[in-house]
Amino acid sequence: MEEARERLQRAERVAVLTGAGVSAESGIPTFRGSGGLWEGFRPEELATPEAYARDPEKVWRWYAMRYAQVMQAKPNEAHRLLVELERAKERGFLLVTQNVDGLHARAGNRRLVELHGNITRARCERCGHRQPLPPPDDFTPPPICERCGGRMRPDVVWFGEFLDADHLAQAERAFMTADVALVVGTSAVVEPAASLGRIAKSAGAYLIEVNPEPTPLTPLADLSLRTSASEGLRAVWRQDG
Ligand code: APR
Repeated sequence: MEEARERLQRAERVAVLTGAGVSAESGIPTFRGSGGLWEGFRPEELATPEAYARDPEKVWRWYAMRYAQVMQAKPNEAHRLLVELERAKERGFLLVTQNVDGLHARAGNRRLVELHGNITRARCERCGHRQPLPPPDDFTPPPICERCGGRMRPDVVWFGEFLDADHLAQAERAFMTADVALVVGTSAVVEPAASLGRIAKSAGAYLIEVNPEPTPLTPLADLSLRTSASEGLRAVWRQDG
């Protein structure tokens, strides 16, 4: 543990990957854990372009429910510690998240890549314009594009869709050049995000994982903390001991 703390303290370049586990302590269910979001639903039924084409109202009902949940949630200590880490490392820091809940941005992270999009925004099916959703109480899906009047979809990456190429390139570059890579709260099974930890490790980074359960990344990690995101981040980063 001491080595991890020193490495993180000394590191000039730190790349962080987060998953749904970081938001679990804000009360937002994960996808694959018990009580997870996918329980009762099959991802193919909801988070795919085909599902949306088949039944846009059903897909929007699910996203509107998650959006309302997210807007009631608050960033937790893990989010706050990652903001502190960004402020300490400045330009050497990049936070890559798979989460679409927007909590890292609300907590104050700016050097942030939202690989899978953000459910507080919609994207026009016709012109691609993005706009924030109205407050949950005033929101009746589907949102209409303020620019062209077209129907809008959730601004998230669905299964079978490509990630934004620039975002992915930025994420891969950060993990290839990191002194320390931190992978927090992800089951590390959904590509391409799942490969970022391995990319960092093979490029010589010191790899720290934080997850109450082991993952496919665990055997590669220099330190894998079997604990919650806030506990693990506090253990390796908290500045006041
Ligand atoms: N702190 C840290 N990790 C936690 C906590 C916690 N308090 N609680 C649960 N976890 C861990 C679980 O052990 C699990 O490994 O968080 C992980 C959540 O895994 P998933 O539910 O698979 O979420 P994620 O890895 O983010 O999924 C990746 O899959 O469904 C798609 O697009 C969706 O972005 C998502 C992607």
